[in-house]
This record gives sequence, C-alpha cells and structure tokens, in this order.
Amino acid sequence: MLQKFEIEKFESGEVQSQLRQYWVTVSDQIQLVNRLLFIEWVSSRVIAGWVPAAAEFEWKTQLTYYMWQNMTIAEKLRKRKEELAGNAKIVIPSQKLEELLQNVARADSFHAFMGGWFLEVQRDLVASYEHYLYVCDPIFDAPTIELLEEIIPKKRKQLEWAHKVIHNAVAVPETLSSVERWRSYTKKYLLYIGGLLEKEESLCTQPVAPAEPYGPAPEKRSMPDWLDTNVKLDEFPEEFAGTLKTFMWHYATEIQVIDPMCYVFYGMDDMPFEFFVDFSRHIWDEVRHHLMGVRRLEQMGYDPKKLPLPYDEKPVTELEQYYLHLTMLGETCSFSRKKKSMEAFYEKGDIISGMTAEIDIVDERSHVKFGKKWLEPMFSQRLGDHRTLEELIRGMIEGVMQELPEAERKSISHFAFCGRIEFKNLSYDRL
Ligand SMILES: [Fe+2]
Ligand SMILES: [Fe+2]
Repeated sequence: MLQKFEIEKFESGEVQSQLRQYWVTVSDQIQLVNRLLFIEWVSSRVIAGWVPAAAEFEWKTQLTYYMWQNMTIAEKLRKRKEELAGNAKIVIPSQKLEELLQNVARADSFHAFMGGWFLEVQRDLVASYEHYLYVCDPIFDAPTIELLEEIIPKKRKQLEWAHKVIHNAVAVPETLSSVERWRSYTKKYLLYIGGLLEKEESLCTQPVAPAEPYGPAPEKRSMPDWLDTNVKLDEFPEEFAGTLKTFMWHYATEIQVIDPMCYVFYGMDDMPFEFFVDFSRHIWDEVRHHLMGVRRLEQMGYDPKKLPLPYDEKPVTELEQYYLHLTMLGETCSFSRKKKSMEAFYEKGDIISGMTAEIDIVDERSHVKFGKKWLEPMFSQRLGDHRTLEELIRGMIEGVMQELPEAERKSISHFAFCGRIEFKNLSYDRL
C-alpha cells in the first residue's frame, strides 16, 4: 500500500543548485527546509508503522520518543520555512524521494528496517543537516544555524541508540544477513537518487527489493518473551486488589495502547501535518504514563517484568473507531477515578504516586482536547462521515451500551455513560 500525503505535488528542477559552497539563496533554502521537514514527517510515520513489530518494550518506548522528536523537529523547520517563504505550504520534494522513503521502509524484519532506516537513511540525513550548516552564512542565516545546531545532536543520539540495538541483534547470523541485505539495498537506492538531497549524479540503476515486506504495520504485533498476558484490564492482579497500588499497575499497562496508536499514526493518510504533531505527543505521553507506573512499582519493590499485563497480538484496522474510543471513552471517562486516587495519595503522604496521577491528568486533558479537535475532520475526510462530534459520541455510546433499553441509550449523557463503564471494585482506602 502506497502511503499518501495530503500535500501538493511539486517537482524541483533545481535541486543541484541548492547547496552552494558559501551561501544558499532564500529560494533554495525554502526548498531545502521543505525537503528536510518532509523527511522528518515521513520518518515519524514510518517508524510508527514499525513499532508494533518491535518486540521489546524498551524499543517501543524509544522509537515513540523519536517519533515525537522528529515531529517536533519537523514543526520547527516548518516555522522556519514559513518565515522564509511567507507561507506554510509543505510540498513533496520529488516523486523519486517519496518512492525511496516508501520502498526502503518495507523491510522483511524489524532489525532489517532499523539497519536500513537508521544506519543508511538517517545517516545520510545527518550528513545533509551538516552540509546545510556548513554553507550557512553566520549573519544571514543565524536563525537557521541555531535550529540546525539543535537538531544535529538529537539526530546523532538517535543514530547511536539504533546502532546499539542493531549491534546486539546481529550477533545472530540470520539477523546479520537480513540486516546486511537490507542495508545494501537501501544504500544502493540512495546512490540511485543521488542521496536524500538528490544533489549527486545517479550512480547506479534502481535496485530491486531483495525480500518480501513484513511491515510497516505488520499483521501481528510483537511483544517481549517474558510478558505474562494472562490478565484483563479490569481484573487487577491479586496482590494489588483493594489497594491504591492498583493505579500504579494500571499506568504500567498503558504500554498496551502504544501499538494500536502507532497503527493509527501510520495509517492515517489524508490528515494534515498538524494532526501528526499533536498525535506524536499524545503517543509519547502514553509511553511516559507506562514509564511512570513501572518506575513507581519498582520503587515499591516489585519487578514489573513479573507482573501480568494485558496484551494482544491483533493489529488495529478500524483506525477512526479506535481513535474515537480512545479519546472519548478511555480518556474522557478516566478523570473521576484518577482525581480521587490523586487526592487519596496526597492525603496519605505518597507524593510520588500523587504526582504520577496529577501529571497524568494534565496530559489526559490535552489528549481529550486533541480528540475533540481531530475527530470530525478525521471521520469526514477519511470516511465521508460528516456527523458532528456530538453525534459521533452518541453513536459510540449506543454501540457500547447495547444491553440498555433504547430510550435510555439515546438519552444517557456522556458523563453518565462514563460512570457506567467505570472499573468496578476500586479501593481508595489503603496504600
Ligand atoms: Fe495515559
Ligand atoms: Fe491519554
């Protein structure tokens, strides 16, 4: 499936002239900044497509952090482009570049993808930023220099992390050959288009993909071998039952929404750039909630790897429905229990758990706001479903509350609905 981007097509005939030796004209910089921000945006989406294939939680959490970092970088570049061009339009720099990014993302394994994407594409991207910095004029381009000096170390750190992950994985001979094969394909492809900046002459013909794709957006999600999945979300592990610790376990379980959210992030064609800026932060926040829970459980003396966590291997296919349920049910309906737990923690002197709940409430408020901002355009643009937000929520309630008599289903308020689906048997009395 070809990923589409809802932006104007634009073919540049002048790419070779974009990076001169001593200065770069404004019109060349507009194209260059547009190209770099396009690559960051695509990179964030492609990485999202591979998060469900990452087996270890540490890989999932780090990759989602990079998705957010890349979108933040892309947003800063977009602002600079707007200053230079007087408009915020993002265009596809060239058909060839778009195809390269799509094709080299279709690797046959997680590690093959990591090798091609980070050690070849991203290494070329770092070199491109450095080249750009090198030809900037210290006075004309001071704002750009400031920006590039902020971006380059971040991208280098991403590379270092990916290098470690790959280095550990290639100790297995089959993984080594699969990574090598994909890296060599990616390297040749980059030579074919003259690098990400397309400034060199093409040095070879277009290479043929050496393997069948496994991802992005694999048909099965990967999870760690050690994970005990034998639990449901509203059945708390016995050792926490009847205590406030249940809440910390619940934060730890938030890792289970990351893969589904990444399927949505990758699959949401035809949504504007700003949606991905918001949604990358949303995903990274959920990872932080997981990390907050894991940290607190460890401080309490538990080994989070020994605790059961609900997890599913199924991919998410109904992307819009997932986003609707996540924001207007899962998140909107979580505030009263979270607020009560926060007050109970503070009252009993457990400051870190109290802060965990309070920070989570802060984040959830913006997630619900994102949902309210994007649900209508998402349903309307992608499904031709022009219902208002109110009507979308009503439809969701009716779907979930099948067992209620029709009249009640139609009249129940969003708030009362939340009360009905709240977790049972929560205890706020004991730490
Ligand atoms: Fe959360
Ligand atoms: Fe959230």
